[in-house]
Amino acid sequence: MEKVWPFLYSVCRNALAAGGILPGMTRPLTSALLTAAILIALMVLGGCRDSADSTSTGLDAVPTLDRVDPSGLPELAAGYTGWRQLNAEPIADDPEVPHGGRKDVFVSVDEEDGAYPDGALVVKRGSQGDDPAGLVSVMLKVVNGNPQHGDWIFREYVRPRPDAAYTVLAENEACWSCHDGAGDTDWVFTKADG
Ligand code: HEC
Repeated sequence: MEKVWPFLYSVCRNALAAGGILPGMTRPLTSALLTAAILIALMVLGGCRDSADSTSTGLDAVPTLDRVDPSGLPELAAGYTGWRQLNAEPIADDPEVPHGGRKDVFVSVDEEDGAYPDGALVVKRGSQGDDPAGLVSVMLKVVNGNPQHGDWIFREYVRPRPDAAYTVLAENEACWSCHDGAGDTDWVFTKADG
């Protein structure tokens, strides 16, 4: 990349000095070549900047459920029970809904004008026997990640006992049939009353 600026500089200097890049070249052709050279240089610089951002700072990283901590849940969900809880009272068990047990819904960030922002995580814990969080369902908003389904990535985790790690029970296709029905509320059923 260091070679780009000296190259551009010499092209410009020669062009200015000679009134054309090569003797006999017309001015319109010279300026077209200069424009092309500048565009290429900008593309090279842009490319370098993007790759530096994503590798060294992670600023442009796409949010993901794929990095998990030792509990088996996504790293992004760490500490979710301390987040804003949407439901004031536990949501009672409903035989019609596959998410069993008594449930609580937490959000990493509030919705804005009826839609959750990029990177928002909605976490629902459901009790299984004595374990208040035996079943954990999550929805992660990834802008342009899943446009047909509100740009949410769905995944559900289960653990057999409180001291065991979670494993994935189901995801995406298994969830759309119901959650598509909540399209008017950004695919989220639970209203904030907490
Ligand atoms: C048969 C319908 C149905 C299916 C299938 C379904 N859900 Fe849900 N989901 C609901 C309902 C209804 C709620 C509202 C809270 C409740 O009653 O559990 C809900 C709530 C949630 C919530 C809390 C946010 C909200 O919408 O209220 C998350 C997160 C969630 N579901 C994730 C999932 C995931 C992940 C899957 C697939 C593995 C899935 N759901 C499959 C019906 C469904």
